[in-house]
Amino acid sequence: MKNYTSAPLPFMGQKKHFIREFRKALREFDHATVFVDLFGGSGLLSHVTKRERPDARVIYNDFDDYHVRLENIDQTNALLADIRTIVGEYPKKKMLPENLRKNILEVIQSAEQDGFVDYITLSSGLLFSSKYATDYASLQTEGMYNNLRRAPYSCEGYLDGIEVVHADYRELFNQYKDIPGVVFLVDPPYLSTEVGVYKCRWRLSDYLDVLTLLSSTSYFYFTSNKSSIIELCEWISEAKVNANPFRNAVRKEMGAQLNYNSRYTDIMLYRR
Ligand SMILES: C[S@@+](CC[C@H](N)C(=O)[O-])C[C@H]1O[C@@H](n2cnc3c(N)ncnc32)[C@H](O)[C@@H]1O
Repeated sequence: MKNYTSAPLPFMGQKKHFIREFRKALREFDHATVFVDLFGGSGLLSHVTKRERPDARVIYNDFDDYHVRLENIDQTNALLADIRTIVGEYPKKKMLPENLRKNILEVIQSAEQDGFVDYITLSSGLLFSSKYATDYASLQTEGMYNNLRRAPYSCEGYLDGIEVVHADYRELFNQYKDIPGVVFLVDPPYLSTEVGVYKCRWRLSDYLDVLTLLSSTSYFYFTSNKSSIIELCEWISEAKVNANPFRNAVRKEMGAQLNYNSRYTDIMLYRR
């Protein structure tokens, strides 16, 4: 049985760098009988958990329908093989000339007429570093590079024994929270202040909502120093404020433009 150390198909934000530590830490959870991966993403944490604990139930919340990409992996491999033929021996990492880009777009367009196209996987082979297109229209506007890998993708056995569900994390949490031996895997989206390529925009309040689930449960929680969430929680626990200091304050906003694609809002609050 293959042990995957990264998701079979590209997925931004997958926890591949944490796999070794996560696997080790799981060994301290021998009391656990059910693991619920609330923010499953690529399912990598679910996969590692099931391999480490085949006796336990593992529920993977596939909020992004990643399993559809896995189910269509043969189609994706076939399309990539056609694209490799077009690219030929063109140097790796180099920007593709317009004629090749056009041919590739034609092949992709006709593949879409026949069925499913995995734009995220195509993006990782054809777009600049971590750029992602999610549909034909957005792919069409991008310059293309030869970042194609040679080997076909494979996902054999990746989700074996795992229960795949699709739900909002709150709903799933409520469904499992009272089950003895439950452990939640909590890896929410990155805190984002700008609307980018992501479907959803996660603000600080969304982040804080997730924390309310953690107080009386067994969990793994993932974050980064960019979110400052740990610092915020430590600060709150010292109770430096116990109510909203801005309550009843008047709020005024001023739009500001940082550069051509980045705007922010300056805020003034006052209370007499
Ligand atoms: C950081 S990723 C998880 C990565 C995952 N642990 C992995 O290793 O691939 C966060 C995921 O939460 C999903 N998500 C966003 N809003 C959600 C919600 N309300 N309920 C459940 N999942 C959500 C995102 O679409 C994204 O796939």
